[in-house]
Amino acid sequence: MDNLRWRLYPLLSVIASVFIFYIRTSSKPANTECSLLPYESYWITSNRIVTPKGVISGAVEVKGGNIASVVEGENWPKQGQAHVIDYGEAVVMPGLIDVHAHLDEPGRTEWEGFSSGTEAAAAGGITTLIDMPLNSFPSTVSEETLRLKVEAARNKIYVDVGFWGGLVPENAFNTSILEALLRAGALGLKVTELGLLLLLYFLNIINLVIWFSDCFLSSIFLSIREEAAIRELLTVTNDTRSGGRAEGAHLHIVHLSDATASLDLIKGAKSSGDSITVETCPHYLAFSAEEIQDGDTRFKCAPPIRDATNREKLWASIMEGHIDLLSSDHSPTVPDLKLLHEGDFLKAWGGISSLQFVLPVTWSYGRKYGITLSQLTSWWSERPAKLAGQQLKGAIASGNHADIVVWEPDTEFELNENHATYHKHPSISAYMGMKLSGKVLATFVRGNLVYTEGRHPPTACGVTILAN
Ligand SMILES: *[C@@H]1O[C@H](CO)[C@@H](O)[C@H](O)[C@H]1NC(C)=O
Ligand SMILES: *[C@@H]1O[C@H](CO)[C@@H](O)[C@H](O)[C@H]1NC(C)=O
Ligand SMILES: [Zn+2]
Repeated sequence: MDNLRWRLYPLLSVIASVFIFYIRTSSKPANTECSLLPYESYWITSNRIVTPKGVISGAVEVKGGNIASVVEGENWPKQGQAHVIDYGEAVVMPGLIDVHAHLDEPGRTEWEGFSSGTEAAAAGGITTLIDMPLNSFPSTVSEETLRLKVEAARNKIYVDVGFWGGLVPENAFNTSILEALLRAGALGLKVTELGLLLLLYFLNIINLVIWFSDCFLSSIFLSIREEAAIRELLTVTNDTRSGGRAEGAHLHIVHLSDATASLDLIKGAKSSGDSITVETCPHYLAFSAEEIQDGDTRFKCAPPIRDATNREKLWASIMEGHIDLLSSDHSPTVPDLKLLHEGDFLKAWGGISSLQFVLPVTWSYGRKYGITLSQLTSWWSERPAKLAGQQLKGAIASGNHADIVVWEPDTEFELNENHATYHKHPSISAYMGMKLSGKVLATFVRGNLVYTEGRHPPTACGVTILAN
């Protein structure tokens, strides 16, 4: 690849991305209510398709919502039957899977809601998200409250949405409530008290409840500090090893912000064979405490943003594979609760609003650490799919759902009031005013084109994902 060609890439990608070839219009029409494309069988081509085998130049065949084939090189039908969308130098990647988002519906739809939240997700290249049990009202802590969620999401979601259930003191010691919650389709349980950090799921629900309650529930509900909570947790996670009494259970630590003592504890547990994974969030990778202006409550979150040295260590840890994946922890509220307490960090809402921006944020900040497209895919698609138990998602491979994001890594944009942001309250986002690179051109969910050029389809046809 010569230098000139590399320098021309940004330009070429802009030009190429606006071409859509209609070679012939013979295939079955798609449901144009659900998709911005008028057909359901088509090929996507690009010189940069991120597959499990690496980045290839070639084409992806989409048929009936799934990926029918992935072809390297030129061997796809350039003439004849097919609709071909040629994205040129733009990157074609599996859609992002955000395992940690708070959409706040039912009950606090004025904070976000399924419609605005999933419109933002689609615009940001996220094709699946897993909603957290807290901040909606009621919280998702029983079969009945999960049903309310699923009902609330009906006809409102532009991307696929699954649900974590909540483990709270009120249900933790009641096996029948937890069993019913998991049987009704919650993908796992999150311990929801402040400062609590984990998700877990288990093959044998009864054993999970007994083991979990016995071991550390009461003590961990009291642990507020990140390191203390993790230390407590890890005294019993050896039970998840093969032969242990909780074999089959898996623990996932959410929103890790401390790259020192807490992460060292997790590394130790992993190397001993505990079934444990950990995520961090883009705001811990993008911001440092030194850079936050006094009283700028947009940056308040829990655990808090730490210093620049810690941020460097977080990047090193994710590059070295000690942190498994990324999630948004999108946790919005109304501007009154976030901004009006300007200067009062104690009163302001703790949570960063970020859903639509996680791809360009991870890319923009990660570039200087040399992150690759394959790493991005591993942190945002492959491993999240595995955590959420979604075998047909997270990779561009034949047979998988056609959940795809197409984006231009080199296109820069500024997040200002003119930028089409679909969060209900864009002004509360800590990212507002920043310049980022990485523009989403198109997002496909199960083959439906659900976002392109500031548009979504007329009907929200995302699917609720329930465990079975
Ligand atoms: C568990 O919860 C159910 C439903 O609320 C209740 O009927 C039952 O008595 C509870 N069981 C225990 C052991 O607390
Ligand atoms: C886990 O560690 C505890 C405390 O060190 C020990 O008593 C227990 O036997 C261990 N369990 C397994 C399955 O190794
Ligand atoms: Zn959260």
